[in-house]
Amino acid sequence: MSARPASLLVIFGATGDLAQRMLLPSMYGLYRDGLLPADIRILGTARGALDDAGFRAGVAETLAKRVAVGDRDAASIQRFLEAVHYQAAAIDDAVAAKALTDRICAMTRGDVVYHLSTAPRFYAPICDLLGAAGLAGAGTRVMLEKPIGHDLGSAIAINNGVTRVFDEARVFRVDHYLGKEGVQNLLALRFGNALFEPLWNARHIEQVQITVAETIGVEGRGDYYDDSGASRDMLQNHLLQLLCLTAMEPPSHFDPGAVRDEKLKVLRSLRPIGINEVAAHSVAGQYTNGAVDAATVPGYRDELGRASSTETYIALRAHIDNWRWSGVPFYLRTGKRMPRRCTEIYLQFRAVPHSIFKGTGAHADPNALVIKLQPEERIELMLMHKTPGLDRSGLKLAQVTLDLDVHDAFAQSRRRLAYERLYLDAIEGNGTLFVRRDETEAAWQWIDGILDGWRAHAVQPKSYPAGTWGPSSSVALTERHGHSWRE
Ligand code: BG6
Repeated sequence: MSARPASLLVIFGATGDLAQRMLLPSMYGLYRDGLLPADIRILGTARGALDDAGFRAGVAETLAKRVAVGDRDAASIQRFLEAVHYQAAAIDDAVAAKALTDRICAMTRGDVVYHLSTAPRFYAPICDLLGAAGLAGAGTRVMLEKPIGHDLGSAIAINNGVTRVFDEARVFRVDHYLGKEGVQNLLALRFGNALFEPLWNARHIEQVQITVAETIGVEGRGDYYDDSGASRDMLQNHLLQLLCLTAMEPPSHFDPGAVRDEKLKVLRSLRPIGINEVAAHSVAGQYTNGAVDAATVPGYRDELGRASSTETYIALRAHIDNWRWSGVPFYLRTGKRMPRRCTEIYLQFRAVPHSIFKGTGAHADPNALVIKLQPEERIELMLMHKTPGLDRSGLKLAQVTLDLDVHDAFAQSRRRLAYERLYLDAIEGNGTLFVRRDETEAAWQWIDGILDGWRAHAVQPKSYPAGTWGPSSSVALTERHGHSWRE
């Protein structure tokens, strides 16, 4: 899609938590560095009865709290605040909605990006409102926050509602993991180096583990989270996107069509985990009280204030049924209240086919590549090395790690918030790092199979104390196949 950089960003849900934590600080970061069109304006809208001045005061507070001192200055904050506006509106209040569309109309001087950061049930009505007001034509695009629905059926309904007004090329579905440097670096690592590609397949890789572990609990988002659980909140989107980038075939170009076509093929090659497979291939967990970072923390039900059978942890043994990955297990897991924050991809290579050191007591562990994405960005390659010495009692091998600290290697480059990248791309009309409709629906189809399987077996999450790596049954998931989780 060829697009001019947008000169108006309209944020729906502008007083919400995401806007405060991420969206406004990201826009400020871009603005301060002169990366946005000089005439950019931001219109926030939400139910709260604020005027421009009231909203700006809140934005000023947010920036003071969220942007590091070295990354902000009074003059650019002042100019940024002047570019920020606010219009109170509720979609079900016709008068307020009309005032909003009038305001958008008055502020429009070129392309417009609408960012819907509200509950997904409002997406279609907001699009209808914009369409009916003639504000959704060529030169406009819409960003949608996750979750796109609750299952395949609701995702289709939302996508139908949105694409009735905005054709698919103008729909930018956000998965903020795709805005992270480390995640994009996966593409650079795989497709910018000739070294890995020959080894990146079932012939050389024994198993893959993708972990997204968080130490936080549900952080006051209990109502949303309890309806979603780890499978919908993290697996359907972030984990599956990481899986796609790890497993996909090389796209012919780094462009929206080619990259997303390849990701889609991975999602469509995922072997279903349904009623007959869930028992052996999935584990659901829920944290009870425990300790994280040396502080005691309540269990999920206590945090929520009621009984619940929502999973705060999920682990799976997945398979991608294609030539490249035939027979290679992809272990996926994500959980809240884990012992440490850690997002990483671990690829264990196959063992050497024949040991020349037999009889010497030397043992060669398989090589492994670990791509660490959070909290630090590192790439580690585990190699076997001779233990120095005269080997009088036989040669010894030890595992050593080639360790690249990406932050150190690029110490001069400023680390950007994921939304800085995503906003810049949406404003410029580049959809490569956004999720296409067919991807999101393929991901739901696979997740629905697992959740249906759980329902059919009345699966209840197994408990695990906060500060541990999930229920003990998750150990069996890997060990049954001769593998162990990396901890
Ligand atoms: C969000 C989930 O999408 O991602 C949250 O809704 C989760 O539950 C968050 O905490 C994790 O994001 P990050 O960037 O902190 O890894």
